[in-house]
Amino acid sequence: MRVKYNTDTQLFFQIGDPLDQGCAAYLHNAMYEFANLNAVCMPAVVKKGELGKFIEAAKTLDAKGFDITMPHKTDILDYLDECDPASEAFRCVNHVNIVNGRLVGKGLDGEGMALSIKNELADTLRGRNVLMIGAGAVSGPIAASLCEYGIGSVTVVNRTVEKAQYIADTLARLYGVDCSYGPLENDFLCAVAPEITLAVQCTSLGSGHGRDFDSLEFVSRFPQGCVAADVLYPMTTFLGAAKKRGMPTIDGRGMLFQQQLAMMEFHFGVKLPDEALLEAEEAVEIAIAMRSVRNRRMEKNKRYGSHD
Ligand SMILES: NC(=O)c1ccc[n+]([C@@H]2O[C@H](COP(=O)([O-])OP(=O)(O)OC[C@H]3O[C@@H](n4cnc5c(N)ncnc54)[C@H](OP(=O)(O)O)[C@@H]3O)[C@@H](O)[C@H]2O)c1
Repeated sequence: MRVKYNTDTQLFFQIGDPLDQGCAAYLHNAMYEFANLNAVCMPAVVKKGELGKFIEAAKTLDAKGFDITMPHKTDILDYLDECDPASEAFRCVNHVNIVNGRLVGKGLDGEGMALSIKNELADTLRGRNVLMIGAGAVSGPIAASLCEYGIGSVTVVNRTVEKAQYIADTLARLYGVDCSYGPLENDFLCAVAPEITLAVQCTSLGSGHGRDFDSLEFVSRFPQGCVAADVLYPMTTFLGAAKKRGMPTIDGRGMLFQQQLAMMEFHFGVKLPDEALLEAEEAVEIAIAMRSVRNRRMEKNKRYGSHD
């Protein structure tokens, strides 16, 4: 890589704690490089409760913005001067621009998934009856972005039903879309499934590394042409069941990559072509390889007591 950083370099940070297993800074830097921007994104560990100190430091350094991961995605809302209504309602922001000392925030998780689904579907999202499975941090923002593409209705199901109700009520208020909610239970899911034309799995269930659905019988009740999407990747039990039934499936990789295009537009007003996503894929491979080298070195150091 050519050395290009100087006093004109636009400085961005990726903040969170922990950060050592993340790959966002690799992805962002690959996108800056692709767009030929004089910009750099530096990962910085910022502990819970230290957001205020970080923001002062970022302003002092004339940083242009930052990308936020756990545990700050909700706490950042207390520091923002401006935020879009959906991110504010769902208390989830993962990108901030610093403009003349003012903090402008936006959540892009939802846009990433909505773009990924839109790109994969040959036809439009307009009028689809959407089932959101799960009501955690990413579910509301994804449903909100899908509403912006003109879906017809949303049903939200969750183990904790009050959270599903909050998302349904908020979407109805913000977008005037037809919304309902219910429990994440097979009987309820089987009852609503025949009307669904897009199902988006947003829980942490079924990745093969933890808890799974009690039953996936409801997948067999989806109608012909229904599409199944999942925030997890590469394969989940939900996507496996949908595939077995012959449904088109979309895993969570696209959500991660498409978010990079939304990120470039938010921070720089630059619209990148889809070819940029090949760079994003390469950046993730590099991040994973470097992470595994680092993990091996740390393991060795722990075993032999070296600290280099
Ligand atoms: N592809 C991407 O780019 C991308 C980006 C962000 C996140 N993700 C993934 O998306 C997933 C969800 O993220 P999040 O931030 O929304 O997490 P979150 O806020 O912790 O929400 C977790 C969701 O899973 C449900 N859940 C967890 N354990 C359950 C169980 N045993 N039985 C039933 N439901 C259960 C929760 O239900 P309750 O509300 O009842 O607890 C909630 O709906 C994570 O696995 C994350 O890795 C992917």
